[in-house]
Amino acid sequence: QTGAFTYDPGFTSTASCQSKLTYIDGDEGVLLHRGYAIGDLAENSSFMEVAYLLLNGELPNQDELSGFTNTITRHTMVHEQLAAFFRGFRRDAHPMAIMCGVVGALSAFYHDSTDIHDPVQRTIASHRLIAKIPTIAAMAYKYSVGQPFLYPDNSLSYTGNFLRMTFGVPAEAYEVNPAVEKAMDRIFILHADHEQNASTSTVRLAGSSGANPFACIAAGIACLWGPAHGGANEAALNMLREIGTPDRIPEFIARAKDKNDPFRLMGFGHRVYKNYDPRATVMQKTVREVFDALKVNDPLFETALRLEEIALNDEYFVEKKLFPNVDFYSGVILSAIGFPTEMFTVLFALARTVGWVAQWNEMITDPDQKIGRPRQLYTGPTQRAYVPVEKR
Ligand code: SDX
Repeated sequence: QTGAFTYDPGFTSTASCQSKLTYIDGDEGVLLHRGYAIGDLAENSSFMEVAYLLLNGELPNQDELSGFTNTITRHTMVHEQLAAFFRGFRRDAHPMAIMCGVVGALSAFYHDSTDIHDPVQRTIASHRLIAKIPTIAAMAYKYSVGQPFLYPDNSLSYTGNFLRMTFGVPAEAYEVNPAVEKAMDRIFILHADHEQNASTSTVRLAGSSGANPFACIAAGIACLWGPAHGGANEAALNMLREIGTPDRIPEFIARAKDKNDPFRLMGFGHRVYKNYDPRATVMQKTVREVFDALKVNDPLFETALRLEEIALNDEYFVEKKLFPNVDFYSGVILSAIGFPTEMFTVLFALARTVGWVAQWNEMITDPDQKIGRPRQLYTGPTQRAYVPVEKR
């Protein structure tokens, strides 16, 4: 398998592409990035290392990793005018609305890296996006809670820098908790790339028209926001909060099975995985590590574990091959770390920017690449004569 796109009769997209980045075997629950299993990467690698791997095709040696990390670090600050741009939003704007707006406007601030035919500008735009997305995400959070923006501190790691910009305040020193930093970095790895999912296909389709990379990533952010896609992590925790205690689980299972009820178990099911999402396995293990490190225990985790157990023993879910996906447990961890639910999809977008950028580069440098132009099955009326309004 070279990642060739195989048509699934139920699959609506006619987008087809070949890619060397990510391979998924949905039946076996396998996810590989450039041939490396997600479990190995999550256990042994770092997000910067996985970013290098996705962008360049090989795991970096120490010099390559240091060089890449330093390059990304040097791009973490945003144009000072961007802070003014933020002030146009209402304080209660959803952070994903801010992300769509700010990232979509980046070409107005960095127009010297928008020429997609110039390999140097493509590389600079790629580095700027990966480096600035955490700064913008932290600014979106700070703006929503009425706290001042913090500039990046480049003595910290990529993930540590993000945590400090998010939770630090100018009035006091911020100590990055190593266990939280490790868990967050692993969560970023789990969300980095995932083959031709809806938002990645959106980025590729936007990029195929020659749109600048900042606009393409903004298109991906908009698509990811949907509750059926990246918005599911926010929806899954809201669902667990609505369920509350395990005794109410049967009521929600019944609703999820009721065709007349639009309710679905958020964080369950997948367009490709018809087996356990390997990322959910790592995510569940990470919940326990974060709880131990922070000495917290959210009863919603027990509710989530019980919900999984009941669902995976229910013939509806077994027959339809519906398993927990990457979004089912992530909210419990992110909430324990201190993020509000509105920030969950922002964190997904932060991590997925690496995959989107890598997929965009692969697409834009493909000599055979043409503009994407999905066709349709026309089911409208056959040709007919015009009828003047007075005769209708
Ligand atoms: C992500 O594509 C990617 O790779 C995405 C992603 C990534 O990393 O980019 O993995 C991230 O988006 C994960 C998915 C997050 N979304 C959710 O958790 C939302 C809840 N899940 C569902 O909305 C749903 O499972 C989808 C949208 C993910 C998939 O929907 P499909 O394509 O309809 O799933 P399916 O064809 O496998 O469904 C089979 C049946 C259907 O019923 P029937 O038409 O056969 O009667 O199962 C039903 C579905 O209605 N079903 C569910 C269900 N998911 C599917 N029923 C109840 N609860 C659910 N969660």
